Amino acid sequence: MSLTDQTRQGAVFDQLRRGILSGTLPANARLPPTRALAEELGVARQTVVLAYERLAAEGYVRARTGSGTFVTADLPDAAPAPKNLPPPGPARLSCRGAALAAIPATARPGGISAGLLAAGVPAPELFPAQAWARCSARTLATGLQDFARYPDPQGYAPLRAQIAAHLAATRGLLAEPEQIVVTAGTQQALAVAAELLLDPGDAAWVEDPGYIAGRGALRAAGAALVGVPSGAEGLDVAAGSALAPQARLALVAPSHATPLGGALPIGQRLALLDWAAREKAWVLEDDCDAEFRWEGRPLPPLATLDRGGRVIYCGTFSKTLAPALRLGFAVLPAPLVEPFVRLRTLADRGTGELGQAVLAEFMRQGLLGPHVRRMRTEYMRRRAALLGALDRFCPALMPLATPGGLHLVLRLPPELEETRVVRAAHARDLAVAPLGAYFLGRPRLAGLVVGFAATPAPRAAEAARGLAAALRAA
Ligand SMILES: Cc1ncc(COP(=O)(O)O)c(C=O)c1O
Repeated sequence: MSLTDQTRQGAVFDQLRRGILSGTLPANARLPPTRALAEELGVARQTVVLAYERLAAEGYVRARTGSGTFVTADLPDAAPAPKNLPPPGPARLSCRGAALAAIPATARPGGISAGLLAAGVPAPELFPAQAWARCSARTLATGLQDFARYPDPQGYAPLRAQIAAHLAATRGLLAEPEQIVVTAGTQQALAVAAELLLDPGDAAWVEDPGYIAGRGALRAAGAALVGVPSGAEGLDVAAGSALAPQARLALVAPSHATPLGGALPIGQRLALLDWAAREKAWVLEDDCDAEFRWEGRPLPPLATLDRGGRVIYCGTFSKTLAPALRLGFAVLPAPLVEPFVRLRTLADRGTGELGQAVLAEFMRQGLLGPHVRRMRTEYMRRRAALLGALDRFCPALMPLATPGGLHLVLRLPPELEETRVVRAAHARDLAVAPLGAYFLGRPRLAGLVVGFAATPAPRAAEAARGLAAALRAA
């Protein structure tokens, strides 16, 4: 049968089906004989016969031998025509579902931001696409049949081995591949860990201000969030101990708190581990952008100091490569590995193995280290360009010292209102985020969180001029 015959047959089928659903052809109505309809429509009789057969197969009509084809009797009387359906109202969710769906995941209610000044995202145009394509081709050529099955829910073993070697070389963290679980980014690691370790109502420390999607994952698991002040030296452990000494878990980014960039000094690190050991609490370490530090050397992870097996270390390739890959990992204390893998199996059966295998190949070829070094140099250039342009065009904005990460924090002068500035910036396609959104409680500072990694240096002046216009309009 030619494509045109198929198309004609589909058109006859659609027209009759629409007639039946709209009631123009009511229950028990007799369809015209196939020959007559074919003549009327100017199509081959076989086209109509096949359309009738399809209607019969889907239950719209019944053929009665000797007497013709009839619309089925058991269609509801008033099956509404698609165009008469009422506009969809809000979906009826469970109470739990409605509460979960209302938890914010980003600083912008519209979702993850992209474009000039977008915070926390790497440069999409600098993704090593050619090398990735070569690694992909090689991976597929050598083992396609391996990737056409269900993945190992703990993660592709060669990738776990590469991650273990990478952590030892770049972060000084010694982990066995058996302790590593590959996840769909840090977000999944945080969500699974929270489900595994918290009962509804359990207190959990989060940095205030802190990472919005991270605390969202804890809240989704039923945690009672305890906002612990976080400043230039990261989370204030003494304040956490005073506020909720018996919390079950603490979510921290010891190398670089979001968004203010504080890093935990060694005394605070030891105090945090002491607290966790004493209370048998867990520490979720978010080490998402430790590679990008602009002052001094990258700080070693808290997990390197953990003797009591209380730290779950979460890493990601979202900042070093691309968030679209959805590739991250957790390094777990040995007793948590099996329950963690079981729970993530229920969530998604494992991370797509092809992407993991391409990343393993990319790392095996030694391409990740040089890529990160190139990104560091480029981001340093972009950061300096943006700081320079802001100094020139927006002298009223006061950059806070952020020693690491892919964003700046700019304080607003008291006469400017954060929400108005953010709205005016979005109207100019500048993807700034409001600092206030990162606070759990009442914001202590007003300002903007502004990314530089996805803002090429030659466009820094354009971005800063746009921001200056937004400040004037606010
Ligand atoms: C503080 C923090 N942690 C972790 C991540 C990475 O999340 P994921 O690995 O799920 O992309 C981000 C990304 O923006 C982040 O800002």
